[in-house]
Amino acid sequence: MTGSYRVKSVEETWALAGEFAKELGPGDVVCLEGDLGAGKTTFTQGLAAALKVPGRVTSPTFCIVQEHQAPDVLLVHMDLYRLHGEEDVEAIGWEDYLARGAIMVVEWPERAGSLIPESARHLVFRHLPDEENRLILIDTQTGDVV
Ligand SMILES: Nc1ncnc2c1ncn2[C@@H]1O[C@H](COP(=O)(O)OP(=O)(O)O)[C@@H](O)[C@H]1O
Ligand SMILES: [Mg+2]
Repeated sequence: MTGSYRVKSVEETWALAGEFAKELGPGDVVCLEGDLGAGKTTFTQGLAAALKVPGRVTSPTFCIVQEHQAPDVLLVHMDLYRLHGEEDVEAIGWEDYLARGAIMVVEWPERAGSLIPESARHLVFRHLPDEENRLILIDTQTGDVV
């Protein structure tokens, strides 16, 4: 799936993540861009639920990486906000995670620079003026809402 989606609640964000999750498999890298509070972690929680990860998925801002074992795949959730560049990202074991065939969901992927593979999916999150509304762009630059 690709395009721009307006989500009006956390539930709608989870539903979109559930659809998107169907396209994911081992080794996929998913970059989540957007400001603080734009909905990146909420989307990841929806992905985790769709992949049947047990338990709660919290923001990895302070620990940088969290691993969630789903029945069929390892979900690795990274928040690179506190890192400063590619060397930092390599130091947390970036290549190891890729080699393990995890699904990698990366908040603040800008920090990883050229470590992000060509094949990565790119999602952009925008907080619209209305409190609950978020725009999620999946592999697209344009903001035309689907
Ligand atoms: N439509 C929506 N989609 C996602 N989150 C929403 C939405 N409406 C309100 N929220 C709230 O906004 C916040 C989004 O935070 P979060 O997902 O942690 O953002 P980020 O990881 O991008 O910093 C959460 O508190 C969530 O409950
Ligand atoms: Mg977050």
